[in-house]
Amino acid sequence: MPKISNKGKQMPESPIRKLVPYSEIAKKKGHKVYHLNIGQPDIKTPEVAMNAIKNVDIKVLEYSHSAGFESYRNKLSAYYKNHGLPIDTADIIITTGGSEALLFAMGSTMDTDDEIIIPEPFYANYNGFSTASGVKVVPVISTIDTGFALPPIADFEKLITSKTKAILICNPGNPTGYLYSKEEMMQLAELVKKHDLFLIADEVYREFTYDGDVHYSVMNIPGIEENAIMIDSVSKRYSMCGARIGCIVSKNKEVMATAMKFAQARLSPPTFAQIASEAALETPQSYFDEVITEYKDRRDTLIAELNEIEGVKVANPKGAFYCIAQLPIDNADAFAQWLLESYDLNGETVMVAPAAGFYSTPGVGLNEVRIAYVLKKEDLIRSVEILKEAIAVYNAK
Ligand SMILES: Cc1ncc(COP(=O)(O)O)c(C=O)c1O
Repeated sequence: MPKISNKGKQMPESPIRKLVPYSEIAKKKGHKVYHLNIGQPDIKTPEVAMNAIKNVDIKVLEYSHSAGFESYRNKLSAYYKNHGLPIDTADIIITTGGSEALLFAMGSTMDTDDEIIIPEPFYANYNGFSTASGVKVVPVISTIDTGFALPPIADFEKLITSKTKAILICNPGNPTGYLYSKEEMMQLAELVKKHDLFLIADEVYREFTYDGDVHYSVMNIPGIEENAIMIDSVSKRYSMCGARIGCIVSKNKEVMATAMKFAQARLSPPTFAQIASEAALETPQSYFDEVITEYKDRRDTLIAELNEIEGVKVANPKGAFYCIAQLPIDNADAFAQWLLESYDLNGETVMVAPAAGFYSTPGVGLNEVRIAYVLKKEDLIRSVEILKEAIAVYNAK
């Protein structure tokens, strides 16, 4: 029999999706499943975006430019400048989601066996992208006790070797909800300059900050223009996950020229979705004001409800729409599966993402889950009620 690659064998399963077969079993039994496991918002996509594709009159659905529509890149640059980010059209390549932008960033800056330092817990697919790129993830632990703040710079420095090429951060964080302060960003800037590293900042949740906190972008740090690479996406900003549009941004001309070769190899980003994404830039501010108010409300509800459960520890997220919760159980993987396979409260159960998959250090985060607050308030309240009962039943087994 022909053999599967080692790389293929090493590709990790997504902790967010691996329990899907069990949720399907629960649904077949007629149980309602509250999906707290996945960052699929229930927020409506802006009408301007949907109308743009409804009204489109295309005779030939052709390839676009490998860097994306020029009209879209121009408007995106204007959008960033309006938001205080000095990004020119030439600094942008449109990609098939932030996911492809991450692959281009790794492909353009790292060789096989090079190392990338990532504060953990981190977005689980960073493991997948790194494996696909042949890159080694070197985790630096951030803890629930500090709310997942940036680990001390000395912890990063201890891990830097001749193979280290980049530091990857997610800001605001998925799964932690942590928002790096300007001071933390400046510390990282100093570090990457000192060691000649790239600083890749995944900023796909940039708009989602609460309590008046302001997001400080990697593109705003003076003096690291050659080091900084920003990853962006329309998925969350406009609740357009299915569009599959994102971008890679950098002032470093060599990085962009290299990323462009990857972009050419895959020909172009999707045409219809670029039309929708370009139109989405016309979304009125009132849309974001409403969405942010809604998420803040959901966050406050979720955190308050979780804190009511004895033995649960949770860090208050400052941005994005996730939190990590420590539960009074021994193994979140087994618990999450049991919730779907063997438990229901009046025909309802919840699906959570076991957090161990968001760490690359083995044995860490075993009693933690990631919860996405992408459901409406009543559903969040009901979900936590189910979770509370379930923990009691599980521990009494
Ligand atoms: C932190 C982070 N980066 C990147 C992505 C990928 O997003 P996209 O849909 O743009 O590929 C996600 C999706 O959930 C994410 O949470």
